[in-house]
Order: sequence, then structure tokens, then C-alpha cells
Amino acid sequence: MPIGSSQEPGKPYIIQTENYINILTNHRSFMTLDITFSKTPRAGSDTAIVYIYEGKKTGGAARDLDKKASGLIQDALKAARKFTGKAGETLLVGLPSKTGFTQAILLGLGKPGDLDALKAENAGGRLLAALSAAMAEKAVLFAEKGDFKAKDFEVAGHLALGAKLRSYKFERYKTKSKDAVKPIGRLNVAGPLDIKAAKVFKDGHKVVKGVFTARDLVNEPPNYLYPEAYANFVRKQLTPLGVTVTILDEKKMAALGMGAILGVGMGSKRKPRMVIMEWKGRKSQSAKNGQGPVALVGKGVTFDTGGISIKPAAGMDEMKMDMGGSAAVVGAIQSIALRKSSAHVVGIIGLAENMLSGDCYRPGDILTSYSGKTIEVLNTDAEGRLVLADALTYVQKKYKPRAIIDLATLTGAMMVALGHEYCGTFSNDDKLWTQMEAASAATGEKLWRMPLDETWKAEMVSQVADLQNLGHTGRYGGACTAAGFLEHFIENNTPWAHMDIAGTAWIKKDKPTVPRHGTGFGVRLLDRLIADHYE
Ligand code: BES
Ligand code: MN
Ligand code: ZN
Repeated sequence: MPIGSSQEPGKPYIIQTENYINILTNHRSFMTLDITFSKTPRAGSDTAIVYIYEGKKTGGAARDLDKKASGLIQDALKAARKFTGKAGETLLVGLPSKTGFTQAILLGLGKPGDLDALKAENAGGRLLAALSAAMAEKAVLFAEKGDFKAKDFEVAGHLALGAKLRSYKFERYKTKSKDAVKPIGRLNVAGPLDIKAAKVFKDGHKVVKGVFTARDLVNEPPNYLYPEAYANFVRKQLTPLGVTVTILDEKKMAALGMGAILGVGMGSKRKPRMVIMEWKGRKSQSAKNGQGPVALVGKGVTFDTGGISIKPAAGMDEMKMDMGGSAAVVGAIQSIALRKSSAHVVGIIGLAENMLSGDCYRPGDILTSYSGKTIEVLNTDAEGRLVLADALTYVQKKYKPRAIIDLATLTGAMMVALGHEYCGTFSNDDKLWTQMEAASAATGEKLWRMPLDETWKAEMVSQVADLQNLGHTGRYGGACTAAGFLEHFIENNTPWAHMDIAGTAWIKKDKPTVPRHGTGFGVRLLDRLIADHYE
């Protein structure tokens, strides 16, 4: 079915939905890199990968290979001026056929005693890029003992995980791959550490799957990924893992009185959905103590035109990523379920399409949210906070969570403040923030704490309704006033954190030849937070 046919009037959307699910569950993106572990190297590999330490010091495998190559590796190390062996640096060396390989990649692993799991993962990512540039097809990584901060087998496992994460491609809608440089086909991690390294990889890969799901969801075009299709995908993907998935359609939401999310969705033919994903870990500590679950809440605006307060045309296609928060929640729940976590976690995503039509909501409208609070709409482009408001209320009413973390591509202002490297995070609870900071450091998903303040909360009070969806200081502090608005929907001082992932959910590059795609930001951090503090 050609892309776009879903927009023909009168087409039953459900056909498109089924089609979409079939495509999405094939998970072609997992096939770009096949990773295996073994004691002895697999036969027929073209590329050898060997460890080098800072100061161009060779590891044992590099020395062995150098003997077979009659000193070519040492020659190359001497000649290379820029390569020093820092973690993640790579040097490509052509090899004579007597070595059994066509080429070697010398992989820098940094100073003795310094390489930890995260640094290994980053080095693995850069290794994959080097393999890809070298057009390697079958590579073998000589995983040997070394002088690292992490254990030897952890280094091997995390190098492979980093390579796997970097190998992601989204090519579902290419009828033929036109890429000249094919990704590597196979990576064999060989050495005496194989079993333990494989275990590290196998566990970590459960989270990688969640990251890839989040990236896929962000990359899916909005004519395929609209609220109903998205909700059905989540049910199909997560139910077999033991997650209880509940979908509220527009009729149920209307019956409940969720006027905020329904207001946002009014302009679109594709009606909003609210999806609740519950993972009940078996021996959950919190359940034993009678505490509620951890709640993960995601903004899922499948396309954001801005509505009547319409966005400029340039780059509007990127607003397909406005469901990045929800994608991170789905990915995290998938990871948690695949790991069979003992924690009790509820994910909730508000899905809506912010469109223009004769039926869309207007600036000036007053919506009644599920909480009962009325909201004056001053700008239809400040829709994310409206979607989140009803999701936040629902999860608190139904589950009395012990902590809430919401993720949303909420404001352009956040991007202006912190760019693409750091995710601004607001929290009313120092303990929760400390836990998140630790999860951030462990996963490399960078957070920066932002302030909550009564002033911003007060700024969101309307003259004619309880609240308004826009601050009156204009663009200034836009990320903070948005957080102030959300704070109105947090009940009983529940520990809460709001992650504005506007800058981190999407890789934006100006050149058309470099990737523009979803990052899956948040999945690893949330998974780690749950693993370390709520199991
Ligand atoms: N989805 C956008 C925020 C966004 C912008 C995310 C760019 C990623 C990249 C959000 O719905 C929005 O439009 N926010 C407005 C809020 C304003 C009207 C108060 C914004 O940031 O301009
Ligand atoms: Mn918007
Ligand atoms: Zn938006």
C-alpha cells in the first residue's frame, strides 16, 4: 500500500493499522548487525579488531597479529600521527592475505584502568562507524583481558552493545536500499571471555530493543503513525511480554471528561487515544510496602502543526517527532518487561494529532480537563501540556504512584536553553532528582536540573478560567512556565520529574546526507532508574 493512501477520504483506517503493525513487528532494523560470541574466531572473517591503549600500546592480540603481518601494525602505529589510542579512536590497516584477514581495525581503549562500561559502549559505537566506513562485512573482535576499570568481559559486552546501538537504521520505507556504504553484516566477539561477555550483551540487548522501538516510533511518518495505529501497535508489541495494555478511545475519554486531550485532538480525523501499560513485577518491594507504582508519562502528539496558532512551514515535517516522550515510555516499558523486572511500573501515553480543520480547537476556547480544572487556550501550539495534564490526572487517580516521571518534546525554549546535548529536567523532589542524576551518569543520557518556582505556577493562572496554557512573559522562560503549568496537575506533592526532551529526542543535522532520526533518548535512563531504585 503506497504511503499516503491512509489520507484518502473514506478509507477504513483499520486496514492501514494492520498493515503498519505487520511492517513494524518485522523489525528489520535488528538485522543490520548480527553479533555472536565464541571462544575461537569464526572462520571467514575479513576484518580483525584488536585493542590498543593510550600511547599506542598494543594488546596481546595486536602483537600476535603484528607477528603474522611482519610488523605492519607497528609500522602503521608509528606512522599514524593522530591516532594515540584514546578510547574510541580507530585506525584502519590493510593486511596481507597470509594473516587470514584483509584488514585490521586498531581500536583505542584509552588509559590503563580508565575504561568503564559507558566508555566501552561509546567506543563500540565509534568502532561500528569505522567498520562501516571500511566496508567490513564479517569482523572479529579479539576480546582479551586488559587493564580496564570495568571487568574484561564487561568491556567486551559493552563494546558489542555500543556497536549494536550505532548500527540502527530506519529504512522501512525505502523500496530498495540506495546506500552505497552497507552496514557491517556480522560481528564476532571471540576470546576466553565469551560466555560472560555474551551474558552482558544479552541483558543489555533487552534495553537496546527498547531504544530501537522508541527510535522506530519517532521515525515513523505521521500518516502511518497516528493515535489509533500507535495504540494498536503498543498493544500488539507489549501484551505478549506480560504487560497489561489498556486503550481509552475518544468515546471513553469523553465519558471520563478528558476535555484537555480531546480539545487538542478535535481538529483531526484521527481521534486521540490514551494508552496505559502496566507492568506488575512479581516481587516488587513497593507493592509489598503498599506503595503505588512508578508512573512514566509521555507526550504523544503524532503530528504537531501548531493548529490555528500554526507553525512556520520550514522544517514542519520534523514535528512527527512530537511523540518522542511517549516513544521513550513505550521503549522503557518494553525493556523493563523483557528484563522481567521486579518493579511495579505504569506507563501512560496521551496520543493526539494537533491539526487544523473546521473542527479544531481555537485560541480563546476554555477546556475542562479531567482534573476538573478549566484551561483557557491562548495558543493552540501549546498543546503538549494539555495532553499531559489529562494523562497525569488519570495515572494519579487510578494508581496513586509513588513517583511520576513525565517526558515530553514540550518547548522550543528548552532547545534554545540547552541545545541537543542536555535534557532539562524539573523536579519537586531532591531524592528523585538524585536518583535520576545517577541513572544519567550511568547511561550517558545527560540531564540538567531546571528550576520550578511559584512565580511560574502563578503565571499560568487565567483571568477567566482556572489556568491558561501560555505564560504572559512571552517566550522568556518558556520551558519553565510549561513546567509550572504541569505542576498544577501534581497532587499531594507526589515526587515528580518533568523531562523536556525537545532537544534530545531527535538528531537534527543541517546536511541532508547525515542522519536525521529519533534517538530513543530516555529509554536507557528510565530503565536504569527503575533497575537501581525501584526493584
Ligand atoms: N512540540 C512543540 C515543541 C517543540 C519545538 C519540540 C521544536 C521540538 C522541537 C510544542 O508543542 C510547541 O509548539 N511549543 C511551543 C509553546 C509555545 C506556544 C508556548 C513552543 O515551544 O514554541
Ligand atoms: Mn505545539
Ligand atoms: Zn508539540
